[in-house]
Amino acid sequence: AGNWKMNCDLAEMEELLAGIKNNIGSVPNDVQLMVAPSFTNLHPAFESLRETNVKVVAQNMHQSESGAFTGEVSPSMLKSIGIETVIIGHSERRSIFNETDAVLAEKVSTALKHGMTVVFCFGEELKDRKADQHFEVVKQQLKEGLFHINDADWDKIILAYEPVWAIGTGETASPEQAQEMHAEIRKMITEEFSKEIADKVAILYGGSVKPANAQEIFAKEDVDGGLIGGASLKADDFLAIAKSY
Ligand code: PGA
Repeated sequence: AGNWKMNCDLAEMEELLAGIKNNIGSVPNDVQLMVAPSFTNLHPAFESLRETNVKVVAQNMHQSESGAFTGEVSPSMLKSIGIETVIIGHSERRSIFNETDAVLAEKVSTALKHGMTVVFCFGEELKDRKADQHFEVVKQQLKEGLFHINDADWDKIILAYEPVWAIGTGETASPEQAQEMHAEIRKMITEEFSKEIADKVAILYGGSVKPANAQEIFAKEDVDGGLIGGASLKADDFLAIAKSY
């Protein structure tokens, strides 16, 4: 999954999309691709990728159905242009835009109510890892933001573990650190829900994934893919990462 964040105006995105479409045939069919453009680029991206199996997903949405929320975008607005998946809880939303676990829980509920798929992001900060609190922090984020859902809702959930210290920093978690956390996440889900659900849910790793390190991270048993920021802005790198799975 490519998270394009606040990058690419329309012309730049068209170039990026052309690059992806030109070589998409080189990615095995069983690799599911997603891209998350800005709100203004969602509709053109959706139209452009209609004939491909690349899903276009939103980077955020508001937790309400409609109303006096200047500057916000609702789930129905997204659905009306064909967007069925939304990223919720990205660390930049949490830290820069002050989205709390409680708000994220509401966003998850609203998205599910609309039948949307949620890519739920979470991950510890460097200070948490240094204090050996990373498992606790992640457990708390999952409990407060996500674990209010029902068993059946898990079909609509994709998890993305993104340690904040690895996002945009060039510093990746080691494949072992990613595997260790992903295995721990499955344990948390087993405890709260069931082993069947824990085994089935896709857990992506995010944080400075590049063509050079993707393969060894994706090779880990509990890593089901990646959420890619910086490297997803270059079509060749994005496709190279996709092919590493
Ligand atoms: P990065 O971003 O790949 O640039 O580290 C990942 C993300 O924020 O999803």
